Formats: sequence, C-alpha cells, structure tokens
Amino acid sequence: MEHTDKLIGLWPAAGLRARSGPLELRWINDRLLAELAELAAEGIHAPGQMPFTVPWSRGTKDQVARNVLEYQWAVRSQVGPGKLVLEMAVLLDGVPVGVQAASGDNWAILRSVETGSWLGRAQQGRGLGTRMRALMLHLLFDGLHAREVRSTAFADNHASNAVSIKTGYLPDGRFRDVREGAPVTVNRYRMDVERFGHRRDSLAGLLGAPVEISGAEPVRDRLAGAG
Ligand SMILES: CC(C)(COP(=O)(O)OP(=O)(O)OC[C@H]1O[C@@H](n2cnc3c(N)ncnc32)[C@H](O)[C@@H]1OP(=O)(O)O)[C@@H](O)C(=O)NCCC(=O)NCCS
Repeated sequence: MEHTDKLIGLWPAAGLRARSGPLELRWINDRLLAELAELAAEGIHAPGQMPFTVPWSRGTKDQVARNVLEYQWAVRSQVGPGKLVLEMAVLLDGVPVGVQAASGDNWAILRSVETGSWLGRAQQGRGLGTRMRALMLHLLFDGLHAREVRSTAFADNHASNAVSIKTGYLPDGRFRDVREGAPVTVNRYRMDVERFGHRRDSLAGLLGAPVEISGAEPVRDRLAGAG
C-alpha cells in the first residue's frame, strides 16, 4: 500500500479532491505546503493593503512563509464533527497557485462554514478567484452536504467582495472590526443550500468544465462523527 493510500485510509480528508478542467482543489500535504509557503512569501497583496484580520502576510519573505507553515500545521487536524477547517490547495494545470479554505464550528449540528482564500499575485485578477470559489461551493454543498456557506470581506477588498457577489452569495449585513489597530467595515455574505440549488448550473457554467468530486463520502462520515 502506498504511503498516501495509508494516510487516506486513516485520515479521509487527505483524499478529498475537486476538479473542473485545469482547476483542482486538493488537500495540502507537506510538499504542496512548502510550495504554497514560497508562493505567499512572494506577496499576496500590495504593501499598503491588508485583506486579512490576522496580518500573517506581513514581514520578511521567510516570516511570511513560516506563517503559512505554522498556520497550516496548526489547523490540519481540525476535520471533525465539532470543528471543520478545510484548507485546500488550488492547483492550475497541476501548479499550486493559492489556497481555498472553509471553516466553522459544530459542523455535525450546523453544517455551516465560512470560506476564505488567497492567490499568488501573478494569478490574481484573471477570474481564477471566482472559479475556485465556485468549485469550493460544489465541494461543500454537493460533496460534504453543507447547509450554509458564509463569507466576509473588508469593504475595501474589491476583488473579494466581487467574488462573493459573482458566485451568488447574498449580502448579509456588515459590522465594524479592528484591522491593524484601526476601525474597518466588514461585509458579510451568505449562501444557503436552496440558493446553491438555484445557482448550481450558472456556477458550473462559470467553471466551464464538468465538476468531479472525489473522496467526499468518508469525509462526510468522519464529520458526522461516524468515521
Ligand atoms: C480575493 C482573491 C482570491 C480574488 O481572486 P481573483 O482571481 O483576483 O478575482 P477574480 O479575477 O475572479 O475577480 C473577481 C472580480 O473581482 C473584481 N476585481 C478583481 N481584481 C480587482 C482589483 N484589483 N480591484 C478591483 N476589483 C477587482 C472584478 O470585478 C472581478 O470581476 P470581473 O471578472 O467581472 O471583472 C484574490 O484577489 C486574492 O488572493 N487577493 C488577496 C487575498 C485576499 O484578499 N483574500 C480574501 C480575504 S477575505
């Protein structure tokens, strides 16, 4: 038995995948993690911007790369009925280009998560962020049977707000928060399973190639507390 097959047998999330044409979401193993850390170190946003509540993307290249490692290692085990943190590498033609994540507490009761993502700067602004979110929605609703998916974005993060709207989330109010010591407005968005049902075809059209999900059933079992 291959090392990866053994891992998937013990830890089903390691075998979770979603694919649509050249775009793929894949569990972040250590090889992918090192590549993603290097990618983040090259920069995710302009120095004057901060898209994240925790400013992990600031610092020297080595610091940013290590922040990615530390975060991913810290959350990797959180795939269970009480807490789900699903961090998926985004690959384009097999090359890692970013991360698409979803997380939430009390999955077995609520089946509700919040999405978050980043792309290397060279890959931004070409529609990829929209497509990877659309693919994640398929994975969450069709693959894992989520009931609700939420997202938040700082009001000045145009791309992130636009991705939520383009993929069909509905605005769900706003609140004020603190970003690097200053007040900031955060927009909330949400999509429930009924809305996803209405949007499924247009999301598939946006992706432009059939969606294939694999490895979801054993993850669903584990999330239900049965695996
Ligand atoms: C947010 C992010 C994942 C979006 O991915 P992306 O590939 O850049 O977004 P898309 O190309 O799919 O763009 C979606 C829409 O955003 C808008 N948009 C994209 N880049 C923009 C920019 N720099 N300024 C203003 N609007 C922008 C466009 O309206 C676009 O719609 P269009 O294709 O109809 O023109 C990516 O920009 C990113 O990684 N940003 C830094 C990290 C981040 O902000 N993460 C989210 C934290 S909440």
